[in-house]
Amino acid sequence: EKGGFDHFMLKEIYEQPRSIKDCMRGRIYPTKGLVQLGGIKEYADKLKNVDRIIIVACGTSWHAGLVGEYLIEECARIPVEVEYASEFRYRNPIISEKDIVIAVSQSGETADTMAAIELAKEKGATIFGICNVVGASIPRLSHAGVYTHAGPEIGVASTKAFTAQVTVLTLMALYMAQQRGTISNSKLVHLLTELDNIPSLVEQCLKSNDTIRVMSEQFKDARNFLFLGRGSGFPVALEGALKLKEISYIHAEGYPAAEMKHGPIALIDEEMPVVFIATKNSSYEKVISNIQEVKARKGKVIAIVTEGDTTVKNMADYTIEIPDADEIFLPLLATIPLQLLSYHIAVLRGCNVDQPRNLAKSVTVE
Ligand code: M6R
Repeated sequence: EKGGFDHFMLKEIYEQPRSIKDCMRGRIYPTKGLVQLGGIKEYADKLKNVDRIIIVACGTSWHAGLVGEYLIEECARIPVEVEYASEFRYRNPIISEKDIVIAVSQSGETADTMAAIELAKEKGATIFGICNVVGASIPRLSHAGVYTHAGPEIGVASTKAFTAQVTVLTLMALYMAQQRGTISNSKLVHLLTELDNIPSLVEQCLKSNDTIRVMSEQFKDARNFLFLGRGSGFPVALEGALKLKEISYIHAEGYPAAEMKHGPIALIDEEMPVVFIATKNSSYEKVISNIQEVKARKGKVIAIVTEGDTTVKNMADYTIEIPDADEIFLPLLATIPLQLLSYHIAVLRGCNVDQPRNLAKSVTVE
């Protein structure tokens, strides 16, 4: 049932070109520059006028929420707040019937996320669910929503569910932009055409698997790891760190690259591997100076770079290329090599990647 793969996690990583495609099916019309989301269309008018969106989730789904914040603010110019569901509910949050709360959950059964929804509902907010499991509790508690359609995810570490959540949030951001007129139709045609091609770019990312496996040998005994990125590369860094710690038990932290100098830089020495999201986008030059800071302290740099990059290649110890795409699609591509990196490191360490210790696939206790 693992389809020839050694683990469900690897199978699910490889399913991503297909799962992302399934997630977009029937929802985008690139030549028309049109996004259709049947599950939330009743709320099209509300989306036109909403002043604020709050995203609640836990774990990897919370990271997808952070990508969503970047996407919705960038594309639809709506202020977004992203909250850990578990914190949101204990803070007597300020919410009203004017707000839209988006709950993101693979399983649709996470207790903290359900409790956050119930609280927001009591205060009159409109709830959208983004879930993978059809008919689960969260979709039933929500007023409206969009399924991710990634198919069953067996590995405890979320992989294809994360990229499907990010895909749905991308679709939502573009849908909101379309409703609010914040992106022109010709730009939407362009972006949707690129989005339609993302599954084949993900396929290309998967071709780095062998390179990453070989490189992982050098890092299997590391005791710590830092993951750094800026903009939407920051949640990707957080997700890379979470994936590594949950399946390999190596301590890892994700940080916005520029925050390094406010503390984590003290940790850097020749023993410290630092993974950079260093693709060619608006923060490229800044990330380069952060890489220099790490190299000056003899840290080991692994950089995720845009295909054809030479500048970072000359500075980093290891580089992994991903294809070029519009900046808003970066998280969908940059995540893939990080999934593979944690997978191979965990396998080399003899860990049970599909069922890491102390973890359950869905956390139904508060
Ligand atoms: O089912 P959910 O998306 O609500 O689950 C949330 C987290 O428990 C989950 O993402 C967890 O962090 C994963 N093990 C991450 O790989």
